[in-house]
Amino acid sequence: MLSKTIQAALNKQITDELYASHLYLAMAAYFESQALPGFAHWMRVQSDEERGHALRVIDMVVNRGGDIVIQGIDAPNGSFSAPLAVFELAFAHEQAVTQTIHALYALAERENDYTTQAELQWFLVEQVEEERITGDIVQQLRRVQDDPGGLMMLDRELAERAGEA
Ligand code: FEO
Repeated sequence: MLSKTIQAALNKQITDELYASHLYLAMAAYFESQALPGFAHWMRVQSDEERGHALRVIDMVVNRGGDIVIQGIDAPNGSFSAPLAVFELAFAHEQAVTQTIHALYALAERENDYTTQAELQWFLVEQVEEERITGDIVQQLRRVQDDPGGLMMLDRELAERAGEA
């Protein structure tokens, strides 16, 4: 049985993951508007992945007999000015998500909720991957700044991203 505290925290995490899905969809739309279809594709896949994270947390609650409360999702922040600025924001967002997952894990420890701790292990590992990939793209974009050819090459590379199985 989930404690009310953990249930509320997991419900908030569901909203956060859905917000991330929204945010990356907004970024995808920005890249579409810039005629960068590879970047747009990458962001669409990322948006799907975030929805998958939300579903995973929903299952964590449902499987333990908890109640799901689907909340409204805020509009994504800001307008986007350049590919580098977008990926810097994505990287910062993933760093913030990592902190949220750590706080959730610490809460589960305090609540002696061993199951939630075990299930959050997947998210801890996932965040390492999320930060590494977005951080790498930030670095690559810094390298190709003022080089349209390099940007187009990166666009073609990001077009290859496959969805998660
Ligand atoms: Fe759901 Fe990008 O972490």
